Amino acid sequence: MVAANWKMNGLRRDGRDLARALARLKGTAGEPACDIVVCPPAALLFELRDDLLGAGMALGGQDCHAEDKGAHTGDISAELLADCGCEYVILGHSERRANHGETSALISAKVAAARRAGLRAILCVGESEAERDAGRALAVVGEQLRESLPEAGTSAEITIAYEPVWAIGTGRTANAADIGEMHMHIRQLFGQLKTGGESGLRVLYGGSVKAENASEILTIAGVDGALVGGASLSAESFWNICAHYGR
Ligand code: PGA
Repeated sequence: MVAANWKMNGLRRDGRDLARALARLKGTAGEPACDIVVCPPAALLFELRDDLLGAGMALGGQDCHAEDKGAHTGDISAELLADCGCEYVILGHSERRANHGETSALISAKVAAARRAGLRAILCVGESEAERDAGRALAVVGEQLRESLPEAGTSAEITIAYEPVWAIGTGRTANAADIGEMHMHIRQLFGQLKTGGESGLRVLYGGSVKAENASEILTIAGVDGALVGGASLSAESFWNICAHYGR
């Protein structure tokens, strides 16, 4: 899977142009053998739905509320995301953990809400630079995973994105050995925590993935795809990442 996280970027015209450029590339450059998920800002979801779904891509939200509906000004429900055409929702992104004080307990409730609405969660975990320097990366990510996973939910419903916080938007990426070790760790832990185990689980890597480093990262054992921020704002650069999976 290659997922595009547009974050809070672009107006309606930018979104339309980007979605249509992706649809054109998918139509003319051949079909990469991977799922492609595009996660635009919430206000663009419905507008871009037909272009993206029509070209065989999936749509995702960037967050949802933990409750199904109610008095939550400014929030969006998982059910509304699904109603707008979403199949996925990114949850627990480090920008939301940091900027909105989201705890793993809250994120777990959001993953459960997504599941109730029939959405697949892309659950993000990742350590800070200080935590990695202190030799605590595996422990920190393990704890995030343990606390952010609700009881129910299988590998078909939950994808994990490992995103070292210090690699997001910085141009720096973790080294291959560390990525491989962490993905294996996540896979094992998921298998222990979930009945049904880790079979079929997808663990994505995120943090400064771009066309230039995609093949190196996507060939690491245990890496099943990428969550792409900055490089997903250009159709060509995002497409060149997807193209790693061939035609
Ligand atoms: P980046 O963002 O590719 O710009 O580092 C990744 C993400 O935050 O999902």
